[in-house]
Formats: sequence, structure tokens, C-alpha cells
Amino acid sequence: MDQIFPFNLPAPTAWYAVLYVVTLLLHIVFMSYVLAGSIMLGVAGIRGMLGRKGKPSDWSAVTTILKDWMPFALSAAITAGIAPLLFVQILYQQEFYTANLLSFHRWMAILPVLIVAFYLLYLLKAHRIEGKTALQGIVAMLVMACILFVGWSWVENHLLSLNRAAWAVRYEAQAMVYKDPAILPRLGYWIASALPTACLLLAWQLRAGASGVAAESAKRATRPLAWLALVSAVVAAAAAWPVIRSVLPASGAPAAQTSIRIGMAIAGVGVLLQVAGWLPARLGKPFRKAPLSLASAGAALFWLGVLMSREVARLSNIGSEAVFARHERVGTIAGFVIFLTFAVIGLGTIGWIIRSVAKARPPAPAARD
Ligand code: HEM
Repeated sequence: MDQIFPFNLPAPTAWYAVLYVVTLLLHIVFMSYVLAGSIMLGVAGIRGMLGRKGKPSDWSAVTTILKDWMPFALSAAITAGIAPLLFVQILYQQEFYTANLLSFHRWMAILPVLIVAFYLLYLLKAHRIEGKTALQGIVAMLVMACILFVGWSWVENHLLSLNRAAWAVRYEAQAMVYKDPAILPRLGYWIASALPTACLLLAWQLRAGASGVAAESAKRATRPLAWLALVSAVVAAAAAWPVIRSVLPASGAPAAQTSIRIGMAIAGVGVLLQVAGWLPARLGKPFRKAPLSLASAGAALFWLGVLMSREVARLSNIGSEAVFARHERVGTIAGFVIFLTFAVIGLGTIGWIIRSVAKARPPAPAARD
């Protein structure tokens, strides 16, 4: 057991690594919805399917829900990114900051780009552009480009942080963009992995009749959604190992092999459960709770296995006695009173916002009668 991640690590490092993986899992859920959702909307936009009058397509229910929920999902993805952002800085201080600083303006560009994406998503759901197919298509394509840019930036940053040999060259060249042949396949892998998770969230939404989608429209979306989820889950499973292996150093590989194998096995079981959960829908059956729950458990296992392997590969790349000693030092710095103060302020503010919104909401129709 003490050879397996995270038990093979000194306690402070193991503690931060587990917190990092668990919090990143939450970011992944919303990020998958945003990344895959923006591509679904972008492709629908390119094909002139948004705001089209006449007979609705099989995908109409999906695009209706996406248009409605993407602004919320984007803000949730951003918010859920903060906690792993904290832990990644503790775990890999030098590597993470160096990659950020080397990219600088290019890295910071994700902030305005996210703001633009956010407003475009609200524009997409605005009644003012209802029925304007071309305009909706352009807006959806812009959103897709913005979100892909942000995903690409995270991948680029991750790979640059792991490539110490590139740092000096990059600094000297003052280059804005880090070129690495591993970037595109890794981004493709993230997209393939995000798709089944997004399909799953959409399936739950369709089942719940989100955004007022009628049962008949939800039924029509069942088969294509199941097809997309199945294909992308299999592609993601096939791509996981080559992507993880690409950042595994030759020297550190033997020690990490067992943990990575276990991580990949967990991910594999997750994919099998997802396939089993999606099959009834692919065969035309309506979304039922049991298969969807099975597929959801599969998605959770898949991500757990992938994130675990991803961390093992990174730690075997940059983990060292000096890094572990720093984690131990950081672990002794306490700030419980400050944490508690800000927790109370934060929770109080959230409570106040919820109360204000609830008070400002117009009364339900029944109450008006
Ligand atoms: C909504 C747009 C976003 C997309 C599409 C996105 C996508 C991604 C992707 C693809 C990765 C994996 C990178 C890799 O392993 O190669 C990632 C990691 C991560 N993201 Fe996001 N992200 C988004 C927004 C954010 C934001 C706004 C934050 C912070 C507030 C954030 C925090 C993180 C963190 C901390 C990681 C882990 C980085 C690491 O371990 O090196 N993300 N994101």
C-alpha cells in the first residue's frame, strides 16, 4: 500500500495532493459542461441549427438547455477552479509560477476572454436575437473559440510547467506562445473526456425537463446524445494512457508504474460503467434513473482514475526531497482565525444574496390569482 499514490508520499504532500485532486474533480464537472457545451453550440451554430424556425431537430432540446444553462455553468466552472488553483500553487509553486510568468500577457488573456465568453453567452440566450439564425451562429462560434482558447491555455501552461529545459529558451525568445507537439493531442483528449460528462449532465437535465423542454423533445434527443457519449467515452479511454505517458519521465517511470496502472484500471472500470449506463438510451429507451446513476458513477470513477494517474506522472516528473520539504514547511503555517473570519464573511454574503434574490422574485402565478 505504501507504494501507491498518495500513500507513497510524505504526509503533507499526500494531504495537499488529495485535496488538489478532489477539488479539481469539482472544476472538471462544470468545465466539462462548458467545454463540451460550447463545442455543441458552436457546431450547431455552424450548421445553422440555432434559432431556426420550422420543424425542430433532434438536438433542439439539447441546444435549448445549453443556451439557458451555459452562463451558470461557466460561472460555476470558474468558481470551482479557485480551490485547485490554490493547491496547485502549493504543490508545484516553482513550476506553476514559472510557466505563468513566461507566458505572462498570453496567460493573463484568459481573463478578458472569459469575460467576453460570459457576455456572449447571455447574448445567445437573449430574446432580442431569437429567430436570427446567422447571428446566433456567429455568437455561438465566438463562444466556442473563447472557451477553446482557455482550455488550450491551461494545457499549454501545464506542459510548459513540466518542461524545465524549455524555460530558458522561452525566456530568451520572449515568445508569447509555447509550441509543443503534445499540446493539440492533450487538448483533444480533454475534449473527448469532457463530452461524456457533459452528455450525462444534459441527460439528467432532459430527464428533469429543464428549461421547459417537453418530454417528446427530450425523447428525440436521447439516441444522438447516447451515441455521442458512447463514442467520446471510448475515444477518451483510448487516449488516456498515451497522454499520461507523454509527461512521464523515463527515469521516474518504474516507481510510478503501479499507481498509474491502478489509476488507469479505475478509469477503465469507469468507462465500462458509462457504456453500460448509456446503452439503453442508445437503443431508444427513455432516460431512467438507474442507468443514468450507473453512468454517473462510471464518470466519477473515470475522472478519479485519470486525475490520480495525471498527478502520479507529474510528481514523478518534478517531485523531489526539496519539494516535499517545502510542503512540510507550508503545512506548519496556520491561519485558522483568518480562514474562519473569511469563511463567515463569505457564507454571510452568500446568504444575504440568496435572501435578496428570493425577496426580489415576482410571486408565483398561483399567488397572483
Ligand atoms: C471555463 C473555461 C475553462 C476551461 C475550458 C478549462 C479547462 C481546463 C483544462 C483542459 C485543464 C487541464 C489542463 C491539463 O492537464 O493539461 C484545466 C486545469 C485546471 N483548471 Fe481549468 N479551465 C477553465 C477555466 C478555469 C478557471 C477560470 C480556473 C481558475 C479559477 C481554472 C483552474 C484550473 C486548475 C487549477 C487546473 C489544474 C492545473 C494544473 O494542474 O496544472 N480553470 N482546466
